[in-house]
Amino acid sequence: MLLGFDIGGTKCAVVIGRLDEDGKPVIEEKQVLPTDKPAYEMIAQLFSVAEVMLFKYNATAPLEGIGISCGGPLSSKNGTILSPPNLPGWDNIPIVELTEKRFGIRTILQNDANACAVAEWKYGAGKGVNNMIFLTFGTGMGAGLILDGRLYTGISDLAGEVGHLRLSATGPVGFGKAGSFEGYCSGGGIAQLGQIKAREKLQMGIPVTFCTSLEQLGNITAKSVAEAAFQQDETALEVYHICAQHLGKGLALLIDVLNPELIVLGSIYGRAQSLLEPVMQEVIRKEALQSSARVCRIVPAGLGEGIGDMAALSLALLSAEG
Ligand code: BGC
Ligand code: NA
Repeated sequence: MLLGFDIGGTKCAVVIGRLDEDGKPVIEEKQVLPTDKPAYEMIAQLFSVAEVMLFKYNATAPLEGIGISCGGPLSSKNGTILSPPNLPGWDNIPIVELTEKRFGIRTILQNDANACAVAEWKYGAGKGVNNMIFLTFGTGMGAGLILDGRLYTGISDLAGEVGHLRLSATGPVGFGKAGSFEGYCSGGGIAQLGQIKAREKLQMGIPVTFCTSLEQLGNITAKSVAEAAFQQDETALEVYHICAQHLGKGLALLIDVLNPELIVLGSIYGRAQSLLEPVMQEVIRKEALQSSARVCRIVPAGLGEGIGDMAALSLALLSAEG
């Protein structure tokens, strides 16, 4: 059996899997928990959930590998979570040591974007592609880079921290940095844009379907804005327009630096592609080197919403293979 943990800013998943005849991980069982506790309590809860799940299977198949996919910055070499912007309070957590002590099995920790990039490359939209970028575009914005047929991690596992790139001098805040790629293109960023735009409209007396009063501003989410945009709410469409423009800007930079064959976009793009794609493509056409943009396909994750589970299990498989 393989055990995977997917640790994110909004929710965490515990996944048990095994390999099918083709050697591909398949999910046997999964449990999702909200990320609503301090780090060590959350980890203790994930461990007990995993133990209960494993207990069912232990008699039939032994546990062979454990993988942990988590938002960075982190050090996969040292097995520590450093201080992710989307996991406040998770500072210098030696999660690999904790896991290996508890389960007695070699454990691999990897940045969530990197792990998803590998999963998409092996089992999803990137099969057979040697130069691709995966972008999480979920609660946070991070990238996994497959360059010339291997995962590029940089000197200390921080390659692909693209959410930190500043795209404009001011704007919504991600990474504690106004106008960053994550500030515009992430669940939190879209919610912030939604609040800014809804406040403007409400103060002018213009009704906003996803937020009926100033007291409701705090309840705005990327999802509620997307639902309103699909219903043609003008403020919501404006929010997604701004997000799409910055998505295009960010991708144009990545295209110019890396000349990828494929860019795979996660979570939010899969749910809101039609709201984002036209403007995103228009900006890329304007901003990126044309000969490079022309050869780059941009698609939603082939593994769809299951990508986080496959990412964690792919790491567990690496750990099992030693
Ligand atoms: C982190 C990245 C991570 C991304 C998605 C960003 O805030 O810095 O490491 O990949 O969020 O979770
Ligand atoms: Na990365």
